[in-house]
Amino acid sequence: MKILFSRWALSAVVLAAASAQVFAVTPAEQLAAYTVLAGSPPQPVRGQQIFTTKHGKEWSCSSCHTAIPTVNGKHASTGKVIGPMAPAFNAERFTDSAKTEKWFRRNCNDVMGRECTAAEKADVLSWLLTLKR
Ligand code: HEC
Repeated sequence: MKILFSRWALSAVVLAAASAQVFAVTPAEQLAAYTVLAGSPPQPVRGQQIFTTKHGKEWSCSSCHTAIPTVNGKHASTGKVIGPMAPAFNAERFTDSAKTEKWFRRNCNDVMGRECTAAEKADVLSWLLTLKR
């Protein structure tokens, strides 16, 4: 019963965050929220696979974010510089859940032709959090 309640509470936080304009959080809090929605522990190795491989379309996540995203990336079509994705190398990463949700939606659609599941988001974020200085 207690577990059930905390699942509900965290889901409510995620929903509130998704609809808020700006909602300051930490990368660890966003990972916790995605993990609750996924219903199983995140798998960093699977996150790396998702990030670095193509999914039937032109780009992988790495095409813009690099394969080891501790460094700047570069937009595959516009050439614009993109700051490092790993939170340890970019303090702004995953600190605004509305921004995170917006870009997961857009980029998963570009790369996979669909939105990422909560489990896939948890896997990717858990892998990014393993990249340390
Ligand atoms: C065509 C280029 C491109 C591709 C491919 C791409 N991204 Fe991105 N991504 C961007 C840009 C541009 C931004 C926004 C600029 C920024 O945040 O520095 C961004 C931002 C993000 C963010 C926001 C992070 C935060 O700070 O909250 C996430 C999450 C993200 N991308 C995940 C992915 C994932 C997962 C994939 C693969 C499924 C992917 N991206 C593929 C260009 C790309």
